[in-house]
Amino acid sequence: MTKPAVTQSEPVAFPQDRTCPYHPPAAYDPLRSERPLTRVTLYDGRDVWVVTGHSTARELLADPRLSSDRNKDTFPATNPRFAAVRDRRVTLLGMDDPQHRTQRRMLVPNFTLKRVNVLRPRIQETVDRLLDAVEAAGPPVELVSAFALPLPSMVICALLGVPYADHEFFEEQSRRLLRGPTPADTQDARDRLDAYLGDLIDAKREQPGDGLLDELIEEQLRDGGLDRSELVSLATLLLIAGHETTANMISLGTFTLLRHPEQLAELRGDPGLMSAAVEELLRFLSIADGLIRVATEDIEVAGCTIRADEGVLFSTSVINRDTAAFPEPDLLDWHRTNRHHVAFGFGIHQCLGQNLARAELELALSTLFDRLPGLRLAAPPEEIPFKPGDTIQGMLELPVTW
Ligand code: HEM
Repeated sequence: MTKPAVTQSEPVAFPQDRTCPYHPPAAYDPLRSERPLTRVTLYDGRDVWVVTGHSTARELLADPRLSSDRNKDTFPATNPRFAAVRDRRVTLLGMDDPQHRTQRRMLVPNFTLKRVNVLRPRIQETVDRLLDAVEAAGPPVELVSAFALPLPSMVICALLGVPYADHEFFEEQSRRLLRGPTPADTQDARDRLDAYLGDLIDAKREQPGDGLLDELIEEQLRDGGLDRSELVSLATLLLIAGHETTANMISLGTFTLLRHPEQLAELRGDPGLMSAAVEELLRFLSIADGLIRVATEDIEVAGCTIRADEGVLFSTSVINRDTAAFPEPDLLDWHRTNRHHVAFGFGIHQCLGQNLARAELELALSTLFDRLPGLRLAAPPEEIPFKPGDTIQGMLELPVTW
């Protein structure tokens, strides 16, 4: 194997916990000086590549010689929970082209900017309703359970046609799937979610409702474009991706704004900055920190050779703080001209829900800070718990007052 341009004495363990919820883990400092790619060690002792440079990341994320197929034996597991899932097949996210392209095409029309713009008034209504309840209940209020989680959960339920009344069940399974205490717990959560969505799909076949799942049953299941197990897997992916990620961005975004009073004041003074602020928060927070691929052929890149079957990770938090792409990357700055962060990934798997996520974040953050001008943390910041490094980053709790 060709050595990377700069070599480190000991590969860094990956992933690791953040020390501050809005900065990459301090333990990744060696990775920040080893661009554009280097080696890290996974929990099971396997050494894999980690991409840390912005332009190399975009080049490799668009390279069809890197596979997303989680059922390949060589596909890296970044934690024991992931390794434990019996059938790791994940529709769409875990597929390569051409199968991936076929499924993505079925979904894209539902997630275009135009379609999301139609949903905006409904999202705003949900934001308003939740904040009415927050105001009635508080202060103080725990904002993850009162606002950050229910908003995206309600939005994705309405979009898919999943009853929000079941939210406690699927939020709990999603939590266990992404960060359950044991591998067996992860498997059990996945089985329960699959059973729940399978039953829901069967019920909808008998009695159609109004939502994306109903459309997919009508247009794809009936004429064989998707079989039942594919539709169940797709529904699971959309339900989880649709609420967990955005909920974390709302909670961590709020915490970060409250910890950056100057930037918050600037934003309050000029609401027109909100869409730039959302983009900058996405870059700065990089909550999906560790995209995973496996090489199917040898790849020469940046003076290194990635061998077939080697694992390749992408640390979005490190990539999004590459000084070559983002000057003074550790500053939260609403006026950046480069918006090409990789917080939503890049290439064929680039986030399908990004327009929806942006709309939810804009409406949630702008309305929250408008309605509660005195919003502040209700506990010392260092005592507020946040998520461990081996899952999507965000706040576990967010006690606030006003
Ligand atoms: C701020 C919130 C979000 C973030 C940071 C985020 C991040 C990401 C990232 C990084 C990927 C690429 C994964 C990879 O390449 O391995 C991805 C893919 C995906 N996301 Fe999101 N996401 C967010 C919100 C959403 C929402 C609201 C949905 C709604 C359904 C969604 C649905 C998906 C789907 C279906 C994929 C797989 C796309 C494919 O494989 O073609 N995401 N997301």
